[in-house]
Formats: sequence, C-alpha cells, structure tokens
Amino acid sequence: MNLFKKSLTALAICAVSAGVTLAQAAPIELKFAHVVAENTPKGQMAIKFRDLVAERLAGKVEVKVFPNSQLFGDNKVLEAMLLGDVQLAAPSLSKFQKYTKSLQIFDLPFLFKDMGAVERFQSSAAGQNMLSSMSDKGLIGLGYLHNGMKQLSASDPLRVPADANGKKFRIMTSDVLQAQFEAVEAVPLKKPFSEVFTLLQTRAIDGQENTWSNIYSKKFFEVQPYITESNHGVLDYLVITSAEFWMGLDENVRTELKKALDEAIAHGNAIAAQKAMDDKQAIIDSRRSEVISLTDAERSQWVEAMKPVWSQFAAEIGQDNIDAAISSNN
Ligand code: LMR
Repeated sequence: MNLFKKSLTALAICAVSAGVTLAQAAPIELKFAHVVAENTPKGQMAIKFRDLVAERLAGKVEVKVFPNSQLFGDNKVLEAMLLGDVQLAAPSLSKFQKYTKSLQIFDLPFLFKDMGAVERFQSSAAGQNMLSSMSDKGLIGLGYLHNGMKQLSASDPLRVPADANGKKFRIMTSDVLQAQFEAVEAVPLKKPFSEVFTLLQTRAIDGQENTWSNIYSKKFFEVQPYITESNHGVLDYLVITSAEFWMGLDENVRTELKKALDEAIAHGNAIAAQKAMDDKQAIIDSRRSEVISLTDAERSQWVEAMKPVWSQFAAEIGQDNIDAAISSNN
C-alpha cells in the first residue's frame, strides 16, 4: 500500500471511530409537550419524569419538557407525535375522539362519583384495555394520570340547569361534552386550552368547566366571579407515545423509561389529590370568585338533565364499559 492509500485508510478509520463516538455521545431526545402550567399535577409529573430519567439514563436519554402549549396545543400534538416531532404527551382523555371512541366514557356526566371510582375503573380490565385502543393508529397509551373532578365556572351564578340556558361555554374537543352542555340548553364551543383565559376575560364566552388546579393555575378564577362546585365529570389524562418511537427503543431503555414514568405518575397523582384541595382553598381565600355549593335537590336537577347523554353514546363507548364504570362506584 502506498503512503497516499495508507493515509486515506487511516483517515477513514478515524472518521468511522469518531462517528461511533459521536453516536454514543448523543442521547436520545425525548420531547414531552403539554398545555398546562408547571404548578399542576401534569406539570409536576413531567418534571419528575425528566429528573428520574436524568438520574437513571444519563447519557442515553434526555427528556425536554415543554409546558403551557409552548411546543404544541392538544389539537396538534397527536399528529405531531405520529410525524416524530414530539415523543410524549398527556392530553386529557377528552381529546382522543378522532383516534378512539372508547375513551369518551370519561366524559359522561355524573358517571364517576369521585376520584376513587375513577382510579378503580382505570385499573380494571375494561380501563386497562383502553390503553391500547389506539394501537392500530400508531399510538400507545402508557398510563393514566389524574387531575381531578371538574367544576363549572361562569360570569353568573349557576345553581340549576336553567341558569345555563343560552350561555356560551368553552369545551374541550369532545362530542360528549358538547352533548352535555346541549342537554342544559347551553351553547358549547370547542376551543384550545391556551385561548380560554382571553375568551373569559373578554366575555366572548360566559363560562367553562375545569378542575380546581387548572382554574387556579391559569387564573380563570380572576375573570370568573362564580364557580359551582358541581363535580359533574372527571378530567384525567392519558400519557401517550408513538408506537414507532417506543418500539424502536432498546429494550432496557424502554423498561427503565416505563419504570420512571410509573413513578412520575404516582407522584403526579399524589399532587393531584392535594392540589384539588389546596387550589380550591386558594381560590376561596382570594375572594375573586364565589364558590357555590349545591344543595342535594339542585344537584339532582343537573344529574337528571345531563344523564340522558349516556344513552346517546352507549353504542360508541360500549354498554359493557359503562356497566364496568358504574360498578367502580361501589
Ligand atoms: C383543557 O383543555 O381544559 C384541559 O385538557 C387542560 C389540561 O391538560 O388539563
């Protein structure tokens, strides 16, 4: 081999080993996009997950969290995930209807009596089956995460369903939620979470439904003088990833990530329970918004008006799933 060829070979070897070193040096980037503030159950869960991964998979995987709809809103995030532009998200269970009908169960008004019932249903066979209900669409549910029960906020007091007649409410992109507000002759409008504060502040809409932690962290209570403690539905999340990304990971990495995620979810769930109480109290203490408690008779009127929505969606959701959810109340 002449000198020229020898140096070319040496150069090629250097280039290849540099490439290998570079490939080893670059960790897999895992973008986690969500729409809420950091001081919420989901915000804290995402941070916990990022920190656990930094501790346990240093140099192999790096999690970057994008809160407050910085990277994608929930209306875009699943498409972006399928394109590989984001690897993890946790949209509310109300935002999957384009991909699966079964998760619509979580939007049925007055189905779950409290978060204990939600937890029991999610852990049941019916609830666990729903995690894989989008696998034919390339999306894998990795676990449920709690936020809490929803309350109704408005510019006028809402005590009985008739008080909602003709009023405009922002809803998530869910046909069940649309039917729920139509059942009380209100006007539901599907809008992204990032627009809710301005819509309320400018009085473009009259009200919205959300959990205590979202009403508090996004300051909805500052522009909504009344909050009815209705606990009429649940707002929980599905932590979701793309099958292509997840199954393409090295098995050990995938196992470690799932472990870290389960721990982060447990952490987020503990925060959810605490925040529901603390943020409600902070809103009461602020005196910006009056919290209305319903009498049993008033609450029964809401139940009676909204419950017919169940039968409207029973065929899509599956009556067996609804029955399993009902039995989780015991
Ligand atoms: C909403 O759009 O109201 C919620 O889904 C926001 C969230 O992620 O908690």
